[in-house]
Amino acid sequence: MGGSRNDKWNEKNAEMAEALRLKGDVQAGQEDYKAYCEACHLPNGRGNPHGSIPQLAGQHPAVVIKQLADIRSGLRSNPKMYPFAMKLRDAQALESVAAYLATLGVPRDSGKYEGPNAAKLIAAGKVLYNRECVQCHQSNGDGAAEKFYPVLAGQHYRYLLQQMVDIRDGRRRNSHPDMVRVIAKYDDAQLVAIAAYQATLVTQQRQWTVQPGFCKETANRIRACSSALARNKVARLCSSYRTVRVIRGLGMLRVWPRRQQGTLPNKGRQGPSRRNWRP
Ligand code: HEC
Ligand code: HEC
Repeated sequence: MGGSRNDKWNEKNAEMAEALRLKGDVQAGQEDYKAYCEACHLPNGRGNPHGSIPQLAGQHPAVVIKQLADIRSGLRSNPKMYPFAMKLRDAQALESVAAYLATLGVPRDSGKYEGPNAAKLIAAGKVLYNRECVQCHQSNGDGAAEKFYPVLAGQHYRYLLQQMVDIRDGRRRNSHPDMVRVIAKYDDAQLVAIAAYQATLVTQQRQWTVQPGFCKETANRIRACSSALARNKVARLCSSYRTVRVIRGLGMLRVWPRRQQGTLPNKGRQGPSRRNWRP
C-alpha cells in the first residue's frame, strides 16, 4: 500500500527548477509537440478516452514540466513515453512544450464513467472528493499551478482511476505525500466513485472570465453576427458588468465550446470567430 513518507515528492530536480525559470516559446513547443508527442497524445492534446494516454490540453505548465522532468529522471516510471521525453533537448524545450499545451482548451468530452449506477456512483464520489481532495484540486478540478496540483477536469475517467490506484499502491512514486496519505485508505470501489465524479468536473478554464472590456468586445462580436435577435439581446443587456453573467445564464457562452468541438481557448486568447458563433 502507498502512504509511505518515502515518496519522493518534488525531489530537487535541477532541470525542473531551470525550466520553471525560463519563458516558454509556444512556437518551438508546438514543433516539438508535433515531432515527438502528438502520435500518442493526439494533435489536440486530448489523449485517448480509454485512458491509456492522458489528456494534456490546458494543463498547468508547471505540472507538465514537473511530470516531464520526473519521467526523464526516472522518478515517474513511464517506459512507453521515456524515449520520446528524452528527445526534448533541454529545460527550455520542456518549458516551451508546456507553454504550447497551455494554449489548448481543456476538452469537455473526455472519457466518462459508463458502467452501471452512474448517477449513484457520481453522487457518492462527489461526497468523498469534497471531503478530502477539494482543498488541493479545487471544487471544479482546476488544481493549482504554483503548487503543481494538476487540472483534473477534462481528464479521462479511466486514466484518473488508474493514476489513483497507482499512487495508492506506490507505483507512481512522485506524488505529494499528503495526497498519498489521504488516498491510502480508499478501496477500489471508492476510487471508482471518485474518478466517476472527477470525470464530470468542468474547469473554470473553459468559461470566459470577466475582464475589463469583455462586454464591449462580446457586443461587437455579436453585433457583427447576422442575427437580429442577438443584436437586440446585446442592446438590452450589454450595459453593465452583470451582462456577462446574464449572457452566461442564457447559455450563450456555453454554445461556443460545442461549436469548437468541445474546446474553448484559455483566458486571454482570442474568442471564437463569428463563423463559429450562432445564438
Ligand atoms: C508512446 C506514446 C507517448 C508519447 C510519444 C508521449 N507520451 Fe506522454 N504519456 C504517455 C503515457 C502512456 C502516459 C501516462 C503514463 C502513466 O500511466 O503514468 C503519458 C503521460 C504524460 C504526461 C503526464 C500527464 C499527467 O497528467 O500526469 C505528460 C505531461 C506527458 N505525457 C507529456 C508528453 C510530451 C510533452 C510528449 C512529447 C515530448 C509525450 N508525452 C510523448 C505516452 C506517450
Ligand atoms: C495535498 C494536496 C493534495 C490532496 C489532498 C490530493 N491531491 Fe491529488 N494530486 C496532488 C498533486 C501534487 C498531484 C500531482 C502528483 C505528482 O506530482 O505526480 C496529484 C495528482 C492526482 C491525480 C493524477 C492526475 C494526473 O493528471 O496524473 C489524481 C487522479 C488525483 N491527484 C486525485 C486525488 C484525489 C481523488 C484526492 C482525494 C482523495 C486527492 N487527489 C487529494 C495533490 C493533492
